[in-house]
Amino acid sequence: MTALTIATTPIAGQKPGTSGLRKKTPVFMATPYLHNFVQAIFDAIGGAAGKTFVLGGDGRYFNDTAAQIILKMAAANGAARVIVGQGAVLSTPAASHLIRLNKTDGGIIMSASHNPGGPTEDFGVKFNMANGGPAPEAVTEAMYQATTTLSRYLISDATDIDLGKIGRVTLDGMAVDVVDPVADYATLMESLFDFPAIKAMFAGGFRMRFDAMHAVTGPYARDILENRLGAAPGTVINGTPLPDFGGHHPDPNPTWAKALMDEMFSADAPDFGAASDGDGDRNMVVGRGIYVSPSDSLAFLAANAQLAPAYRAGLKGVARSMPTSAAVDRVAASLGIAAYETPTGWKFFGNLLDAGRVTLCGEESFGTGSDHVREKDGLWAVLLWLNILAVKQAPVADLLAAHWARFGRNYYSRHDFEAIATDRADAMMAALRASLPNLPGQGIEGMVIQAADDFAYTDPVDGSVSRAQGVRIIFDGGSRIVLRLSGTGTEGATLRLYLERYAPGPQGLDLDAQAALAPVINAAHELAGIAAFTGRVAPDVVT
Ligand code: G6P
Ligand code: ZN
Repeated sequence: MTALTIATTPIAGQKPGTSGLRKKTPVFMATPYLHNFVQAIFDAIGGAAGKTFVLGGDGRYFNDTAAQIILKMAAANGAARVIVGQGAVLSTPAASHLIRLNKTDGGIIMSASHNPGGPTEDFGVKFNMANGGPAPEAVTEAMYQATTTLSRYLISDATDIDLGKIGRVTLDGMAVDVVDPVADYATLMESLFDFPAIKAMFAGGFRMRFDAMHAVTGPYARDILENRLGAAPGTVINGTPLPDFGGHHPDPNPTWAKALMDEMFSADAPDFGAASDGDGDRNMVVGRGIYVSPSDSLAFLAANAQLAPAYRAGLKGVARSMPTSAAVDRVAASLGIAAYETPTGWKFFGNLLDAGRVTLCGEESFGTGSDHVREKDGLWAVLLWLNILAVKQAPVADLLAAHWARFGRNYYSRHDFEAIATDRADAMMAALRASLPNLPGQGIEGMVIQAADDFAYTDPVDGSVSRAQGVRIIFDGGSRIVLRLSGTGTEGATLRLYLERYAPGPQGLDLDAQAALAPVINAAHELAGIAAFTGRVAPDVVT
């Protein structure tokens, strides 16, 4: 077995987006697309020689083949050891944990997260750093630069190794440790939460439904919820991971997890419902007859985290992405802790977590997490909810009503307009950006515009600046419109329109979110000219 040096030429467009490089699966499968990108990763991080990495993916189509290629390239690049999940499977938070637990030099995660999988759907690859978190922009930019100058890649000509068998094998001098994907992660969860209290709640008849969406969390949820916590067998549905996620979008939101929503709003609804995405880092939570928006979930968890053992000492601070509602800011103010506002993308939380400035983070895109790993963590959020419910012993609807009565309610929704022609979406954003200086002071839909800008972020830890992260139009009274183009899609452009309106209460806290937001929605369409530029009137997905 030898390390081969194969000549190659740069492939255009290998630029990582919000979360790694995502493309259609056939694009990744066409040699040397994956090879070039993986070599660029190794080159950009100063080589792989002598290093240890974690490798795993969400099990989507091409996951196993890609893992064999990456292992052979790691060996040929001189890596000392790779820790790989059995079957090349690891949820994203579990991969982040293994990187930290084993103090490795980083990890490669094969996932396109919540995007559909299959021979004609999406595939993705991202690199996480030694802290367990997604590579920051400077590193992803270096990877992209490396893809543009690449002239060779290194790969071992060894045969495929058996990733189904737990234990150590050697690949061209490199140690490959195949590990149980669930065990270490489940142990971590057990160390954070009051498992006996949650177990007692299930034993007392508490009913839950967890929709794993045929994605990676099935085995994790079965082990933790059903085996360790004693939830009734069948609590976890769609628990067998499939390479095409059963043909569905493995995205836990009211649109794509509609069956769960229907059950939670039915006469025989269980007490609590939750779902996670393709790679296990997102979560949606639903109470009986009530949907919890991710922004509200973050605020509620921040207000109640102290009820769980890991957070008993209190939170150091909280962080949210800019488009996420300001609900958590109000909680932070009452707790007397800092609240940070970052651009979209979990990578922006890494420095704040590493520096010990924040304990909890969250995004409107169904991501919530803490300093236990450096990724958002779907099951973690579900377990924190369960821990709080076990202490409070009250329905989700009552707990949310009490939360809003105390802090006021940030009505919130996101409208997505998918697969728009890129030039039209760009033209719309350019026109909107150009109009920003004239907006402050203007009245629209009975509201007055206070401020309008294109969000720029200066990282308080390393001083790095990220510009053009989304247009914000802020009204008097706390209402707000945010528009940005998605950085995770693979087809045309997706316009995300984020809508927020603050109701201080005590009246008007129980309106339908879309109805409460109607003036803000109208103002957004008027100010951005969405229909004129894109031809779209109604959104494809509403969360
Ligand atoms: C991924 C990232 C998140 C981000 C989300 C939406 O899940 O990990 O941090 O919020 O994508 O990104 P997008 O650019 O599509 O709005
Ligand atoms: Zn994900």
